Amino acid sequence: MIPDGGHLPVLLDEAVAALAIKHEGVYVDATFGRGGHSRGILAQLGPRARLLALDRDPEAEAVAGAWRDARFRFHRAWFSELPQVLDAEGIAAIDGLLLDLGVSSPQLDDARRGFSLRGDGPLDMRMDPTRGKSAAEWLAQVTESELKEVIADYGEERFAQQIARAIIAARAHQPVVRTGQLAAVVAKAVGARRGRDRGQDPATRTFQAIRIYINQELAELSLALDHALPRLAAGGRLAVISFHSLEDRLVKQFLRRHSQPYGGNARLARLPIAEHALPVPPLRLVGRSIRARAAEVAANPRSRSASLRVAERTGSDRSSW
Ligand SMILES: C[S@@+](CC[C@H](N)C(=O)[O-])C[C@H]1O[C@@H](n2cnc3c(N)ncnc32)[C@H](O)[C@@H]1O
Repeated sequence: MIPDGGHLPVLLDEAVAALAIKHEGVYVDATFGRGGHSRGILAQLGPRARLLALDRDPEAEAVAGAWRDARFRFHRAWFSELPQVLDAEGIAAIDGLLLDLGVSSPQLDDARRGFSLRGDGPLDMRMDPTRGKSAAEWLAQVTESELKEVIADYGEERFAQQIARAIIAARAHQPVVRTGQLAAVVAKAVGARRGRDRGQDPATRTFQAIRIYINQELAELSLALDHALPRLAAGGRLAVISFHSLEDRLVKQFLRRHSQPYGGNARLARLPIAEHALPVPPLRLVGRSIRARAAEVAANPRSRSASLRVAERTGSDRSSW
């Protein structure tokens, strides 16, 4: 059974445990989706605790709007806007923040959102359809070199050059405005060349790349982490579930940088400074990255690529960078 309006939360128990929930604490679920993790967090919170949830998708907002729980508040916002949302709620410090990155199953499964290779739909791909350009609008005006760069960087696609060229050629005949159209252009461009990723649709990496670009996913993640750190109370937890190597690398580097004296700057770290005089970094890593267990992967294939990383705010006021 899939609860929560069609989204099976990934690493649910692990993520809630990672927050080390304080009974009367203040928590943020910055990727509400269909509220699977929020429900898990609320189940552990006492009557005076607070849970603030964010999502930029109007459909997530509609689900959250139907929740009746005095401890719960929802804001439709991009998670890079965390400081403004916290300020609006009069919250100075939080005891934990969860980011469960990427798209939700309902976003993927609804062909009208334009994320999916399965089922033809308008090429939109925006989590927040009220802001920015749709994928179709962007593809109508992007240059070949910029398109190639996006597909290579965000899709880690070997055939980025051929695919970019094919899309630009296709749009000269007809605007590329449907997911099916884009998938067909990419399939034709890479065709039989794609041996290594057999079993995967030839356009999977291109779709991922365009989605990441359109939704500014890596910039959003980077800003959210930067904004969250100063708002975490001592002992507060940061838990991030990522679904591909680009996100995971960004999270890993952020956590590493902020859990080492001098941000891990090798030159400064070599200075002859006594251990006790070293600045205490603002974060302490909690364990290694956590992957879904076999039973979860069997029940929910989406969890196969998930990686949960956790860190705790140290009590230090001494900045290390
Ligand atoms: C993987 S789903 C979260 C699922 C959720 N944990 C649950 O159990 O239902 C990710 C959600 O985060 C939202 N999202 C992704 N990036 C966002 C951003 N930068 N700002 C706000 N919401 C974002 C998406 O709209 C999507 O609903």
